[in-house]
Amino acid sequence: MAGVRKGGWESNEEVVRLTDRYVMKTYGRFPIAPVRGEGCRLWDADGREYLDFVAGLAVCNLGHCPPRVVRAIREQAGTLLHVSNLYHIPWQSALAQKIVENSFGDRVFFCNSGAEANEAAIKLVRRYEHEIRKGDRFEILTMENSFHGRTLTTVAATGQEKIKKGFDPLAPGFRHVPFSDPDRLLAAIGDETCAILVEPIQGEGGIICPADDYLPFLRSVCDDRELLLVFDEVQVGIGRTGTLFAHESFGVVPDIMTLAKGLGGGVAIGAAVASERVAAAFVPGSHASTFGGNPLATAAGLAALETILEEGVLENCRKVGGHLREGLERLALRHPGLVREVRGRGLLLAMDLTVAGGPIVESCMHQGLLINCTANTVLRFLPPLIVTTAEVDEMLKTLERALAATSEEGGNGS
Ligand SMILES: Cc1ncc(COP(=O)(O)O)c(C=O)c1O
Repeated sequence: MAGVRKGGWESNEEVVRLTDRYVMKTYGRFPIAPVRGEGCRLWDADGREYLDFVAGLAVCNLGHCPPRVVRAIREQAGTLLHVSNLYHIPWQSALAQKIVENSFGDRVFFCNSGAEANEAAIKLVRRYEHEIRKGDRFEILTMENSFHGRTLTTVAATGQEKIKKGFDPLAPGFRHVPFSDPDRLLAAIGDETCAILVEPIQGEGGIICPADDYLPFLRSVCDDRELLLVFDEVQVGIGRTGTLFAHESFGVVPDIMTLAKGLGGGVAIGAAVASERVAAAFVPGSHASTFGGNPLATAAGLAALETILEEGVLENCRKVGGHLREGLERLALRHPGLVREVRGRGLLLAMDLTVAGGPIVESCMHQGLLINCTANTVLRFLPPLIVTTAEVDEMLKTLERALAATSEEGGNGS
């Protein structure tokens, strides 16, 4: 499959050279350049095939180039690419309707990424406090080990020092508390606190699930203290955990929810979803985004959401997710010195190791399997939600080989 691009990019090496010369060095990249994708498979510029259990970091929930989304994009590209939010955009309205009809929410603001969705949520929280509640509280509690994005304000909201380093001064008004610790949260609420922002399951932090009663506890605290509850579902939403939104399985609803990643079926889009009461704080001129809710992204999002809701994707996620989890647990039993824990929900699964995960990710990549490592020791498995049990079995065999090789090298303690 070499020479996939009609006009060049003949090899991974050529692309790596271009990146190294011209692109800012914000990413530690593996030396491969995927140039084509279909379903759960990717092909690099050397023509090498990979089974993809990264899925663009939870973006390609329907796999690569899902036919219904591709059709919608092709049609939209020939109809109308962009028009300003000075006018009504039918695909945007229809996608908002679809989200509202399938969630707690009443209204949607569209933007282009997860960080922007959280920016919108943070602005909405503050405006609700000042303009509707007529108060002057401003502080938002977020969690230690959380991740909410890379804009300056979402970096301030993020509870990880390594993400903040070198960017002082950060926006004030955020305080971090330990995740899933009710007492520390209660102790942190002050006169200035107006909201809690939390990932239902921490993604970048290492697939950390809260105690079952933690999110319901947050809901009741927010109701008692008149705080807004914001769920960051950028990574865990859009079917990833087996329900359309992760919070559904915890039996609570937020006041605001943020979405991105899987929402566009592979196309950049973000959204903040809110109840009518809270959404009323935004009036014409309060917030905006030139590209937010553009025809192309929302046509793709509509096709993606319809596919998820109509084509058994959530059922597949639950079924194959169970199969993957069982397989990972079997591997954990076979490598007790190497695996600390298997955790997660649906197809957001993790294997926490006693050693650094990087070499295992590389070993898998050399064998034609893409997996990810987060929080240094946590192997993260985020396949497309359309993955089959046969593909899971294929990936488990490769992972087993990589774990066995690490065990032989005496990798039991980093
Ligand atoms: C929970 C969460 N929130 C926000 C973001 C930021 O999203 P984006 O990179 O689209 O700005 C991410 C990205 O990984 C995320 O996992």
